[in-house]
Amino acid sequence: MNPLAEFPSIGSMLPDSMRLFVRNEVDSTNDEIRRLALAGADDGTVVVADRQTAGRGRRGAAWVCPPGEALAFSLLVRPKEPRALWPRLALASGLAVAEALESHGVECGIKWPNDVWVCGKKICGVLVEAGSDFAIIGIGVNVNVAGFPEELNTSATSLLLETGVPADRAGVLASILRQLEVRRHQIDCGYDLLLDAVRSRCVLTGHRISLLAVDGPRLGFCEGIGAGGELLVSGPNGFERLLQADEVRIQDTRS
Ligand code: BTN
Repeated sequence: MNPLAEFPSIGSMLPDSMRLFVRNEVDSTNDEIRRLALAGADDGTVVVADRQTAGRGRRGAAWVCPPGEALAFSLLVRPKEPRALWPRLALASGLAVAEALESHGVECGIKWPNDVWVCGKKICGVLVEAGSDFAIIGIGVNVNVAGFPEELNTSATSLLLETGVPADRAGVLASILRQLEVRRHQIDCGYDLLLDAVRSRCVLTGHRISLLAVDGPRLGFCEGIGAGGELLVSGPNGFERLLQADEVRIQDTRS
C-alpha cells in the first residue's frame, strides 16, 4: 500500500485556510514550499513528503526522516504581522507541536527556542526560514520511528517509542496543523498567552545551561523566558537576554 494513502483523507480535518499537497519524495519540503511560494502559492499551503533526499535542520545539519515512519512537512505562511515579529513563528511552531503531540499521549517539554522534548529526548525539530514576503515553517516529527542510530539513541525519541503504540501519521499532522493555525496568529496579539504556554513547558528554566550566543559561548543559569520570547540567563557575564543562541544544553540542575 502506498505509505501516503492516508494523507489525502485528512482534508476535512484541516483548518479551512490550509491546502495539503502530498509527495512521495522531494529534496526538502522547505525547498518545495519555497518553489510554490515563489510561484504564487497561497498562505496555508502545506507539503508533506514521505521521503526527503536533502532534508535539513538548523545550522545546515542534515535531517533524516525514515520513510513510512517519520513525518516531514512544511507550511507556507504569508504573515500579516510586521516582519520584525516573524522570528516568533519559531516559538509558536514548537509550542503547537508540543500541544498537538500531547493529544497523542505524550507529555512534551520545549527546549527553547523550538525543539520538542519528551523525557529529555528530542521528538521534533522545527526549521523556520523566511523569504521576501513569506515564511516557511518546516517540521520533522519522529512519529513511528522504531529505533535510532547509536549516536542519536540517548538524545532522540519517537511517539512510538514513548507510547508503545504506532500512531496515525496523518492524524498527527492534522493535530499539529490545527494547533499551528491557533498559535501562528498569536505572534502579535495574544503573544502573552503563547509565551505563558511556552514557559510552562520550558525544560531549561532553573537549570544550569551552556550555549553558543552570537558573540561566543556561555555557561549560566536559565532564569526563564522574557517578555519578547528571549532566553534569560544569569552567569559570569551578569544577567543577559539572549534573542538567539545555538547548541543550548542542560548541564546541571540548580541546587
Ligand atoms: C532541527 O531541529 O534542526 C530542525 C529540523 C527540521 C526538519 C524539518 S523536516 C521538514 C522540513 N524540511 C526540511 O528539510 N527540514 C524541515
